[in-house]
Amino acid sequence: MRKIAIIGAGNVGSEAARYLVHKGIAEVVLLDIVEGIAKGKSLDLLHSGPIDSSSVYVEGTKDYEPIKDSDVVIITAGKPRKPGMSREDLLKINFDIVSSIAENVKKYAPNSVVIVVSNPLDAMVYTTYKITGFGRNRVIGMAGLLDSARFAAFIAKEVGVSPADVRAMVMGTHGDLMVPLIRFTTINGLPATEFISEDRMKEIVERTRYAGGEIVKLMGTSAWFAPGDAAAFMAEAVILDTNRVLSASVYLEGEYGINGVFLGVPIVLGEGGVKRILEVKLTDEEREALHKSAEHIRKLQEEVDKLLG
Ligand code: NAI
Ligand code: 2OP
Repeated sequence: MRKIAIIGAGNVGSEAARYLVHKGIAEVVLLDIVEGIAKGKSLDLLHSGPIDSSSVYVEGTKDYEPIKDSDVVIITAGKPRKPGMSREDLLKINFDIVSSIAENVKKYAPNSVVIVVSNPLDAMVYTTYKITGFGRNRVIGMAGLLDSARFAAFIAKEVGVSPADVRAMVMGTHGDLMVPLIRFTTINGLPATEFISEDRMKEIVERTRYAGGEIVKLMGTSAWFAPGDAAAFMAEAVILDTNRVLSASVYLEGEYGINGVFLGVPIVLGEGGVKRILEVKLTDEEREALHKSAEHIRKLQEEVDKLLG
């Protein structure tokens, strides 16, 4: 049986585990520094197996030994945002947490594909990349899939169609500088712009940019259902080698004219991690927005470099 380790058994980690156990994708190990939380939640999930007809085991732990030789590791440990906090405010706090986890992933799961969720996303995935030393195909940030899903969901509601029929692609950073690609957004192949006015589309794009913050304001903490499902969906693509096309934060080496930065771009995801980065021709405006995103992340990466010493 293949194995997926989830580090951080909080809101996002638990939802990712629930998705993977419910679908029977792989054995799941849930690790948290708060041992009771990891053990309690994994027992609860294990008990759901006979109801969900799932054949996989799930185990909770605070130790790294049980994650040994995991095929995929999802890192969700860290503090979530409080109202008024930006994702960047979390940098120093979550750097300490994620860097210690990355050391352990390198030691216990040296062949794994790592999916990072902790915020600020692009900086935390860079931290993981630097500390593990894994190839760029094996260290991936989850954000673009979530941002694309949020954009698609808002469009579906606006037009009154099934969310399952909307395809959307959001590139760039996980933050206010994300780049939703309006002209590639379709309702089952039909251009979404045929059904939504330009002004309304602008409003939907703005809502997408701040969709995470909208939820933080409402709940006092950040979202977990869609984020947990998105991280699990990516792990599923790796385990089942499905070659799913989605937006994720990957280390660019010249793609889109950008070098040495983690940025959300369309990828093909399967066995071994990123199989391809898909490059499409962008308009001048889209390219400019993407490069602005990249420069913002480069500065965050410089902050990480200082912390790495
Ligand atoms: P949470 O507070 O519910 O869970 C975090 C868990 O991490 C806690 O159970 C905590 O005990 C654990 N933890 C802390 N330090 C640890 C360590 N050293 N080792 C193992 N476990 C440790 O937070 P939530 O809502 O699950 O969010 C987790 C992270 O994901 C946050 O940084 C949040 O901002 C980020 N996030 C990112 C999204 C994205 O799109 N990339 C979307 C949603 C959340
Ligand atoms: C989100 O977008 C806060 O990054 C988190 O929900």
